[in-house]
Amino acid sequence: MTGQICFLLNDRQVCTSQAPGVSVLTYLRQAERLIGTKEGCREGACGACTVLLGELDGEQVSYKVVPACLLLLGELPGKHLVTIEGLNQAQLSLVQNALVDFGATQCGFCTPGIVVSLTGYLLAGGTDISVAGIKQALSGHLCRCTGYAALQRASAALVRFISQHSHASISDLIALTLLPDYFQTIPARLRQLPKTPSDNGQTSPEFWIAGGTDLCVQSGPRLASAPVRFLSQFREMKGISRRDGQIHIGALTTFAELAVHPVIRQLIPDIQGYMARLASWQIRQQATVGGNIMGASPIGDVSNLLVALDARLILQRDGQRRTVPLQGFYRGYKDTAQHPGEILIEIVVPVPDPGVRINVEKVSKRLSVDCASVNSAIAVHCESGIIQTCSLSIGGVAPIPLFLKQTSAYFQHKPLTKETIQGAFPILQREIAPISDIRGSAIYKRLLARQLLIAHFTQLFPELITVRDFHETH
Ligand SMILES: Cc1cc2nc3c(=O)[nH]c(=O)nc-3n(C[C@H](O)[C@H](O)[C@H](O)COP(=O)(O)OP(=O)(O)OC[C@H]3O[C@@H](n4cnc5c(N)ncnc54)[C@H](O)[C@@H]3O)c2cc1C
Ligand code: FES
Ligand code: FES
Repeated sequence: MTGQICFLLNDRQVCTSQAPGVSVLTYLRQAERLIGTKEGCREGACGACTVLLGELDGEQVSYKVVPACLLLLGELPGKHLVTIEGLNQAQLSLVQNALVDFGATQCGFCTPGIVVSLTGYLLAGGTDISVAGIKQALSGHLCRCTGYAALQRASAALVRFISQHSHASISDLIALTLLPDYFQTIPARLRQLPKTPSDNGQTSPEFWIAGGTDLCVQSGPRLASAPVRFLSQFREMKGISRRDGQIHIGALTTFAELAVHPVIRQLIPDIQGYMARLASWQIRQQATVGGNIMGASPIGDVSNLLVALDARLILQRDGQRRTVPLQGFYRGYKDTAQHPGEILIEIVVPVPDPGVRINVEKVSKRLSVDCASVNSAIAVHCESGIIQTCSLSIGGVAPIPLFLKQTSAYFQHKPLTKETIQGAFPILQREIAPISDIRGSAIYKRLLARQLLIAHFTQLFPELITVRDFHETH
């Protein structure tokens, strides 16, 4: 069979001539009639369409769990796409059995995606499998309308069972009935797949696609017929390193990669805790740092952090590169200093002086899969109780992720006391201009901005200042 996009779909090779911007969810349900992958929200928020995507990684295949509604056909060449049908075996699988044993079934829309996510977690988790981790794996499955506690009990039992058995290799996982036999053959078959391009290599496409988690929601139907290009082809845009006093973050670094990278953890010890508040486990494996910046949302959680860290953007067009400070990149709502055709290659963060402490805060209505009402980040250096430098950013209170220039400058060379922090409140309030919307009233957001300022200092310097110090001002 000839076609433009060739990949393995469950146990068989598929080549399709459908456009690269067609959603995998649409393709599975309409072209393949694989209707176990359900269509719920089509916005990455319900988990009903969850699939596994496997890619050769040396001799092995590494799998991630992604929502098919935010995945496009152009991401599939050379990969292994696994739907719920591809996990079914002659008997119930390990995960399916656990759900039955604990009476842990959600409705018919939610259950297939949950089976895929739990399988994907146990498949990809290696030695890090834990009860906390498997709960995170469920974070993209939003509905709680049936037996959710039973689902958590079934998940915990799965973790216990897997931990007590050898689970290092695919053959171990097949023996445990987590996976069907054919998974054993996938690495060799992926190597033999015909090499097909993701797109037609246009130099000026209508859409550059990174993780697609924003674009598929905003422009989904248009992508199917528009000229698109997939940035994932550019391997050099991935990875994090520290050299020449700077941290280099490839624009295609995913949220999940950022959360666990040792260079980032050294900089922000609790980065994992913060990143766990972004989107869902599934989306964090797909969403990129570059997409967060270029999407220019005023509540982008990673862009907000990078504004406080005084990051620089390396932008490229026709082989020419230029460097732009992120603090001056945003000009208005969804309006940036990006030139037409420019792509973001890398983000460079100056390594802060030793002694700089960094904190990030996010307030949203739900803990998972929810955008911030207000988010804020700070990088502050305090010596012998005197603030030496301070860099503060805030999102959700202006049309852009905002660098709080005046508030930051105010703190310089002041003692770190309750009075100093209170003195910043009027300056902070003058710098922001929140509007009332679905995420809260303008008054509420002003209150949050003040509370997050207090939270930054009490989190970072508990030896100098605590929330209790502010009680009388509440
Ligand atoms: C359910 C759900 C929950 C979410 N939760 C959060 C959240 O908690 N916090 C948050 O901040 N965001 C959240 N998002 C938004 C989104 O996931 C992020 O903004 C993500 O970082 C976008 O990255 P991406 O790689 O998917 O971008 P894409 O969708 O691929 O691209 C977004 C835009 O940026 C452009 N672009 C991307 N990369 C580049 C590049 N390198 N050079 C030039 N242009 C580029 C694209 O052309 C497009 O215009 C959520 C989204 C969903 C669907
Ligand atoms: S349909 Fe809801 S996450 Fe894809
Ligand atoms: S909608 Fe499926 S369990 Fe609630």
